Amino acid sequence: MKFVSLSLLIFLFAGIKGQTDQQNEKSSSLSWDEAYQKADVLVKKMTLEQKVSIMTGNGIGKGPCVGNTEAVDGIFPKICYQDGPIGVRGTSGVTAGVSGINTAASFDKEAIRQRGEYLGEEFRGKGANVYLGPDVNMVRTPYAGRNFETFGEDPYLSGVAGVETLLGVQSRGVIAQIKHLIANEQETWRNSYSANLDDKTLNEVYLWPFEEAINAGVASIMCSYNKINGTHACENEYILNNVVKKRLSFKGFITSDWLATHSTVDSANHGLDVNMPGPYHYGDRLVKAVKDGQVTEATINDKALRIISAWYKLGQDSGYPAVNMDAIRSSKDQKVDVQGNHKQYVRSLGAGSTVLLKNQNQVLPLLPGKVKSLAIIGTDAGDSMILGNKLCGTAPCLTGTVAMGGGSGSANYPYLVTPLEGIKNRAGSNVTIHHGATDIDLVGASSKAKKSDVAIVFSNVFTMEAFDRQNLKLNRNGDALIKAVARANKNTIVLIHSPSAVLMPWIDHPNIKAVVWAGYPGQESGNSLADVLFGDVNPSGRLPYTIAKNKEDYPVDISLAQRQVDYTEGVFVGYRYFDQHKIDPLFEFGFGLSYTTFAYSNLNLKSGGKDTTSSSSSYLVEASIKIENTGDKDGAEIVQAYIGFPSAAGQPPKVLRGFEKVFLKHSQSTTVNLTFGKRELSVWDSGKGNWVLTSGVYTLYIGASSRDIRQSTTFSI
Ligand SMILES: *[C@@H]1O[C@H](CO)[C@@H](O)[C@H](O)[C@H]1NC(C)=O
Ligand SMILES: *[C@@H]1O[C@H](CO)[C@@H](O)[C@H](O)[C@H]1NC(C)=O
Ligand SMILES: *[C@@H]1O[C@H](CO)[C@@H](O)[C@H](O)[C@H]1NC(C)=O
Repeated sequence: MKFVSLSLLIFLFAGIKGQTDQQNEKSSSLSWDEAYQKADVLVKKMTLEQKVSIMTGNGIGKGPCVGNTEAVDGIFPKICYQDGPIGVRGTSGVTAGVSGINTAASFDKEAIRQRGEYLGEEFRGKGANVYLGPDVNMVRTPYAGRNFETFGEDPYLSGVAGVETLLGVQSRGVIAQIKHLIANEQETWRNSYSANLDDKTLNEVYLWPFEEAINAGVASIMCSYNKINGTHACENEYILNNVVKKRLSFKGFITSDWLATHSTVDSANHGLDVNMPGPYHYGDRLVKAVKDGQVTEATINDKALRIISAWYKLGQDSGYPAVNMDAIRSSKDQKVDVQGNHKQYVRSLGAGSTVLLKNQNQVLPLLPGKVKSLAIIGTDAGDSMILGNKLCGTAPCLTGTVAMGGGSGSANYPYLVTPLEGIKNRAGSNVTIHHGATDIDLVGASSKAKKSDVAIVFSNVFTMEAFDRQNLKLNRNGDALIKAVARANKNTIVLIHSPSAVLMPWIDHPNIKAVVWAGYPGQESGNSLADVLFGDVNPSGRLPYTIAKNKEDYPVDISLAQRQVDYTEGVFVGYRYFDQHKIDPLFEFGFGLSYTTFAYSNLNLKSGGKDTTSSSSSYLVEASIKIENTGDKDGAEIVQAYIGFPSAAGQPPKVLRGFEKVFLKHSQSTTVNLTFGKRELSVWDSGKGNWVLTSGVYTLYIGASSRDIRQSTTFSI
């Protein structure tokens, strides 16, 4: 969604940037064929104008939702399209949960599914037919402004997180609209840059999660602002018609990102189904184009079938709640509170996505009996001082904790538990808390740190849609603040809220005993954090992106001068690039510490286990590995599987192709099974235009991160 109205505010701040819980379980019971048959009956009743009206938004800001199509009397209802990935945007009575990047950092399929389910319940409860998410664009560069919405830098992880999300959302009868198709990896010149990428890179990296989602039954896709090879995404025949609708057999509908449509005839003929927010290029213009013979009525029928069949497939033809978005656009509508018990998912996923990057001398977890005083430094720990509330989220802020990113990926907080509140509540009255300095008052910060047993220094990076980062530093004097605290206290803990990587020039300071990345954890921020800091939850979050030592180590910068964006790094995105070029990252993809330790043993491989041609559940290779919790605390391990391909496959040294989160009590062990099918073991052959298995020797690496491989073995295909 376009973010327009706050641009003035953004420029002001840019310089400092651095009801009830409705268990309406409507599951998609119809096949696409059945849904198409039902839809066909309605389409046959509709005039050309009526058909076009269901593919044309009613205009900017018309409400009640961010996108709306009008009803066709007696035949088809109004359809409400609503942002966005973390919650129902722009209205009250909803949950403002963890961001996409946290979701990915959990590496927890079950928790991701539950998040999708509660999101589905809330969108349904608010009467929104279409959830504008998930965002499965890649973290191609740490500068990109919307990284917080995504599932990180790895296509496989994005695919899993995308599928779990959409299955959760759609299980509640809400249409998921996965976005943004495709190569929308920056905000600079986002309406005009051209992403120029080759076919292999397209298929193996950027399209991968979309393909997974299509195979899993996603009902809708949003095309992006940018161009691909010089042609706007929403009129790109190759991407929309040839790849998505024909080759991948996508049966649902494609909607333009808001104002991303640039033509009538080309868009309609090349595969765009719904124009948002409309009407401009569609509406009357599209009707005229049909009457003039530039677009066939068969094309219009196909679009109408796609929209209506998605609606039938998700069961929206019966008992769908009326729209009740209250806060912004239509105050007269009734207010329905859809939060239910969903905050519990936010709290646990917030804790489950917190990544412990460094922990020396067991400074963490904090033990209230042992730690008698705690300094909480940095405005990121508390409330926003200007505007007097917890604003940092829907718009940039100068003070106050950051727990969500801005733009269409934001939602209104029902409340926000700040880190200060969460820590105070958990620490109890026996721990003295020293808090209060500003981010620029280094003397004050230092004196508070000095008189405390442990000092936690908070810093952040706020990003929002439409703006890329200007550098990879912390905002608000963060590096200087961290150094000042570290000089004053030998038990310094650094706590970071950021959308992806930040540079950590202070990382080796001997007094910095721990570093924690908490991402953008949403409304339960402080509680999730306290759960981890005090050891109620043993951290198991893992980095879904690479943290480099130097900014020059990243392959991709964002150029303000350049609107031709060549994806020359090809399939070598993120850790794949660091591995290929033997660059040591500061913290690698998949990395994260625990308060316990795990041992890996007995990697066993069964090769050629089953026929691969018959069903999708068949697999080529099955592996099992024993995981033992060898420490003295209960905790979860994220077991990661990477494949090393035969050299003829033209792949990075290793690519993620499986993971499992396993919880083990201390000294317990289990066997984890992992399977790799044709999909996981194939690469894209541009000559053949298809996925192929390369013959040769493969290596299976099992480890605790992309660089902490504990066991490996080889097999041949
Ligand atoms: C972009 O153009 C290049 C060069 O012509 C071509 O090889 C590639 O397949 C095109 N990619 C897409 C996604 O159309
Ligand atoms: C505070 O310390 C006292 C004395 O050690 C203890 O009895 C009490 O339970 C502690 N309170 C909390 C909240 O930890
Ligand atoms: C993995 O497979 C083994 C043997 O095939 C089985 O005994 C074990 O229960 C499986 N583990 C899990 C977690 O399903």
